[in-house]
Amino acid sequence: MSRGAARRARRALVPPRAALAVVGLFAAAALASVTGLMVMLALAPRTGHAATGVVTAPDVSAPTVLDFTPEELQRIQSHGPWPLPLPRDAGNALSGRTEAQALGRALFFERGLSPAGVSCAHCHDPARAFTDGRARSVGVAELDRNAPTLLDAAHERWLGWDGAADSLWGQSIRPLLDAREMASSPAHLKRTVASQPPLAAAWRRTFGQDAVTQGDEAVLVGVAQAMGAWVATLASGRTPFDDFRDALARGDRAAAARYPLAAQRGLRLFVGRGNCHLCHVGPRFTHGEFADIGLPFFVRPGVVDPGRHGGIEALKASPYNLLSRWALPRDDESVKTRHVHAEHRHFGEFKVPSLRGVADTAPYMHDGQLPTLQAVVRHYSRLDPDRLHADGQQLLRPLGLMAQEEDDLVTFLRTLSPKGPARPSMALGSGAGQAVPPSAGPSLNPAAPRPPSATGPPARSSTR
Ligand code: HEC
Ligand code: HEC
Repeated sequence: MSRGAARRARRALVPPRAALAVVGLFAAAALASVTGLMVMLALAPRTGHAATGVVTAPDVSAPTVLDFTPEELQRIQSHGPWPLPLPRDAGNALSGRTEAQALGRALFFERGLSPAGVSCAHCHDPARAFTDGRARSVGVAELDRNAPTLLDAAHERWLGWDGAADSLWGQSIRPLLDAREMASSPAHLKRTVASQPPLAAAWRRTFGQDAVTQGDEAVLVGVAQAMGAWVATLASGRTPFDDFRDALARGDRAAAARYPLAAQRGLRLFVGRGNCHLCHVGPRFTHGEFADIGLPFFVRPGVVDPGRHGGIEALKASPYNLLSRWALPRDDESVKTRHVHAEHRHFGEFKVPSLRGVADTAPYMHDGQLPTLQAVVRHYSRLDPDRLHADGQQLLRPLGLMAQEEDDLVTFLRTLSPKGPARPSMALGSGAGQAVPPSAGPSLNPAAPRPPSATGPPARSSTR
């Protein structure tokens, strides 16, 4: 097709009846391979146009849906579907059990777990998409890294920016014990659970016995596994990008046209010249592994964050990894932990983060060094190739984007966040005793109020 013809085809409006016929065609082709379907999608508007012979659509403005190539359409579809079913927390027998989720939720907001009054929610605030809005988190003291969101964390194969944990519950143990985070101890956890009647009752419902009758370490793991069971239910909602992607798949141009053109241009860069989709793969926009993107990784002058290298060493040494006696049931997930080994190239690599909800989780990167999405895009546009490891180099080069293109990419990234405030249902308040309706736990309910315990920092910190 000549460029002129393509432009005309784009401008032509498909009459409703023809559109319906096209939709019918898709229904018939529902069993066709994705590739085949995508090729049809690419052709659909033009086919409808040619079949009806309509050529005099009002030429009001530029096209409202870009003329994506079949390859682009296929890549766009690969970033769905959404939502995905939530996996269970690996090696956590409590995962999926309602009473454990209720206990885990109560524990998550419980400042009493820490002698310093720091709860998990202090750094993972539901009102901030389970982050704290800081570059680096502050518990009892400042940490070296940025707090990631917990939404969709159940999908992560490795937890933390360095993947030092291989399950949600395993990841939950470190902040409990870390002197800079919650600075707690197994004995303190046990006392807290036993001394608060609602927590004690929720504990009994979950474990069938009182915490005081269990060993200290069993209580530590029990707290972490209940939290893991709850965190595994936190899912992010659908986004404008999801609506666009599905509209394209249905061949529904009217719905697709509601997605801003700037976002479409940004999307085209993302799956094309920008090469972003090579690492930010699939429905969650990550392959879940680690990479180097040429950012400095100093903790402070002269001290570097070893990133993935240190993460693998910590994981292998952890008494709470999926190969440990606490991981039950022992499932296939543990195989990856057995086979991962630290190599030199892992130095300074960090986890490729999911980009879902990314507009809600500034500042960015493992240590929050980039304040805005604009700054992130500028980094990829102008990055210094000398900074890259040999591995990153193959995928990354300075993109040299024009200002307009940088803006388009940012506009696209913003469409990966759910519309409106995304907050999980918080019907529980700060107490542990109330029952959690099964429907309230896992879902996101924008209307639900924030519990007071989730909002306030502990007494000493008022800087954020
Ligand atoms: C002082 C702040 C702070 C507190 C308190 C805290 N976290 Fe975190 N959390 C972080 C930071 C920072 C990271 C990134 C850690 C890393 O890369 O090593 C993180 C990472 C995580 C992750 C991994 C997410 C991912 O996608 O990789 C999970 C899960 C998590 N925290 C759960 C919890 C739970 C449960 C608690 C309470 C027991 C908790 N956190 C308490 C700051 C905190
Ligand atoms: C080589 C793999 C790779 C490619 C290609 C890549 N990224 Fe990333 N991306 C990463 C890694 C790794 C991080 C985290 C780096 C860190 O924390 O030090 C990241 C972080 C980000 C973040 C910050 C997210 C957050 O929560 O902090 C955004 C936004 C982002 N990338 C967008 C993009 C865009 C847009 C492109 C294309 C222009 C792109 N990425 C290309 C690997 C990649």
